[in-house]
Amino acid sequence: MYKRPKGTMDILPETVTKWQTLEQLLRTICSAYDVKEMRTPIFEHTELFTRGVGNTTDIVGKEMYTFNDKKGRSITLRPEGTVGFARSLVENKLYTNPDGINKFYYMGPMFRYERPQSGRFRQFHQFGVEMLGFASPYIDVECMVMAVTVVEALGIKDVTLHINSLGDFDSRIAYREALKNHFSSSLEELCSDCKARFESNPLRILDCKVDCDHPAMESAPKTVDYLTPEAKEYFESVCALLDMLEIAYVVDQNLVRGLDYYNHTVFEVISDDPSFGAQATLGGGGHYNGLVEEVGGPCSPGVGFAFGLERLLMAMDESQVEEDHLDIYVMPMGEEAKQLGLQIVTMLRANGYRVDMDYQNRSLKSQFKTVERKQAHFAMIIGEQEIEDEVVNIKCTHSKTQDRVPLESILDYIEKHEKGVHHE
Ligand code: HAM
Repeated sequence: MYKRPKGTMDILPETVTKWQTLEQLLRTICSAYDVKEMRTPIFEHTELFTRGVGNTTDIVGKEMYTFNDKKGRSITLRPEGTVGFARSLVENKLYTNPDGINKFYYMGPMFRYERPQSGRFRQFHQFGVEMLGFASPYIDVECMVMAVTVVEALGIKDVTLHINSLGDFDSRIAYREALKNHFSSSLEELCSDCKARFESNPLRILDCKVDCDHPAMESAPKTVDYLTPEAKEYFESVCALLDMLEIAYVVDQNLVRGLDYYNHTVFEVISDDPSFGAQATLGGGGHYNGLVEEVGGPCSPGVGFAFGLERLLMAMDESQVEEDHLDIYVMPMGEEAKQLGLQIVTMLRANGYRVDMDYQNRSLKSQFKTVERKQAHFAMIIGEQEIEDEVVNIKCTHSKTQDRVPLESILDYIEKHEKGVHHE
């Protein structure tokens, strides 16, 4: 007996309706923001992620699914979508867009070798949005508003938008120095990864899952205190625009995000529902100035976010999910009836109805059980008498009426009857 690999899941038919409802809602929101879909490969050259995400991050250092292909090239299953998107933007020269801005979304599986638990998987799915072209607090805010719209549209309550600024390049240098000064006295007490991060990228110490409760974390310097005047002004504009739109947020000075490409605005949408435990972040993102250059393109600042679809599904209001019912179930009695039934189901399906039929000659009783299980609106019985009279027997499970309907009037009958029921 084979089992699925740890940290993966089978999405079975009974939950797929919920996934499809979620995906459809997300696509509708994207359309309102004129954000177009883009699909990039699920695997990329490893170096793209080491450069783009940053090789001192946990994602690159510990969590990537990396292997050599048959020609010995190092390949990695994408742990996130932004870097592959930036590569594609450069490779396809999308940055030459005369409208100045590119807005894209993606939906699909991502892979991280993490310790699986509720809300955390090794294969998970992200819905991500990226807006590229120029740096502006307006675009950052548009992105955040879109992220908030997503949770609102899904009826998710008790969430908070956390925002922070990591500042520009000069702010980062000043902050890096402040962090080094701060952690130098407690360095011996920190884990071996943090010791290495101290030299390579001290900001990543704040992101450590091992040392997160060490007292030096709480008292660490805050990014906002090291912003250059320009970066401060940028962040103030972001906050002012959010205020203008009356979008609720908290400035969270501990928010640094787990990927290296960010500067200026970073944000996360966090659930306040205690059942989410440590996996309360539904989505996160931020502004990135240098990523497109890092992967070989021109200066093209961007901002984006991604939500974990599994986490959105856990939080989503179930009442939005439409019941998955059948329109018509065809119940033929005998071989000749089956042939007529097959012609009828083909005709009904071609007309957009959701139809199924019995091919196993089961008893009427068990076929009616199927009608019940599949919540079919109509049961269509075809027996010997019906064939002789060139009619079918249609029973409406809503109004409980039953009619003998001539073959040529089936479609007409179903259409009229459906409308009638909807108007009740
Ligand atoms: P991230 O914060 O690494 O950002 O991931 C975004 C979301 O993906 C998380 O908030 C979470 O909901 C979900 N997620 C991450 N890891 C897992 C996991 N192991 N299992 C289940 N869900 C998970 C990014 O990936 C950035 N690329 C977002 C971004 C887009 N920034 C700018 N543009």
